[in-house]
Amino acid sequence: MATPKYVLMDDRIVPWNEGTVHVDTAAFKFGSAVFEGVRGYWNADQQEMYLFRMAEHMDRLVFSQRFMRYDEIITPEYVTEKTIELIRANGFQGENVHIMTTTYVAGYGGQNVTGPIGLAVTAQERPRTAKITEGISAQVSSWMRVPDNAMPMRAKVNANYQNGRLATLQANADGYDTAILLNSRGKVAEGPGMCFFMVRDGVPITPHTSSDILESITRTTVLQLLEEMGTPAVERDVDRSELVAADEAFFCGTAWEVTPITSIDKLAVGSGDVGPITKRLQERYFDVCHGTTGAHAEWRMPVYGTAKANAAE
Ligand SMILES: Cc1ncc(COP(=O)(O)O)c(C=O)c1O
Repeated sequence: MATPKYVLMDDRIVPWNEGTVHVDTAAFKFGSAVFEGVRGYWNADQQEMYLFRMAEHMDRLVFSQRFMRYDEIITPEYVTEKTIELIRANGFQGENVHIMTTTYVAGYGGQNVTGPIGLAVTAQERPRTAKITEGISAQVSSWMRVPDNAMPMRAKVNANYQNGRLATLQANADGYDTAILLNSRGKVAEGPGMCFFMVRDGVPITPHTSSDILESITRTTVLQLLEEMGTPAVERDVDRSELVAADEAFFCGTAWEVTPITSIDKLAVGSGDVGPITKRLQERYFDVCHGTTGAHAEWRMPVYGTAKANAAE
């Protein structure tokens, strides 16, 4: 993928190479930063790009900033306006994009400084790979998900992500695509950057939100779509041994969308093929994200303002 032309730094759209942060900031030295990953979905018929559930991402960004006791909260309205400006400046057309919004402690003076706060937004094209239809392998990690009373995953703090990084690198070194982390109670938590669902006897099941997981926006979306599909999910503790009993399993998240898991710890999930509920859900999810259905228009924010009325259901 070509490097984008521009990045947003505070209130300025600058050439990509000028998107830099000083090495003495608390953000650089101690990871004092929070972020959101958002996707922009291209709709070819409408020649429009949609930001998916931008408002919910912005709400969570505010929560993460408050959680980190920032001196200043960069507002949803400001970030949204600047994100749209950045995508337009880069002129992204024809491909989905992944947007990373970071608000960070740009102050100097050590670990505990709480301001001033900087804003950086990057957006890059991110086409899907074959894995999203073929499915992936996962390893139950020997790394434990960080517990809520240590570094809660509920806040999207950059430093949290070293936990998932260790699990991913271990899984990759052992020949798996990714990891499933258990929490301090030994129950299934989530993947390094995505939530976990499985299906047993036709019933989708996902760990509840007190499982040391991120309160994922895609998870909420999936819960609603499953309900609408007539296969509502149960939110509860998931035991490790249940992973072997699952008929289907998938990850979900902004970056991972709905990605089937076809094996866990080298044991096939169900038949080893992508399961029927997972497949139907994935198709529905893509339709809703791209706006190829009129359903849930409230979740899509047009970037270019050229969108025609959404097609009827
Ligand atoms: C740890 C973790 N869990 C789950 C998710 C999925 O969250 P969302 O659907 O809000 O992108 C993410 C996404 O960034 C994540 O980092």
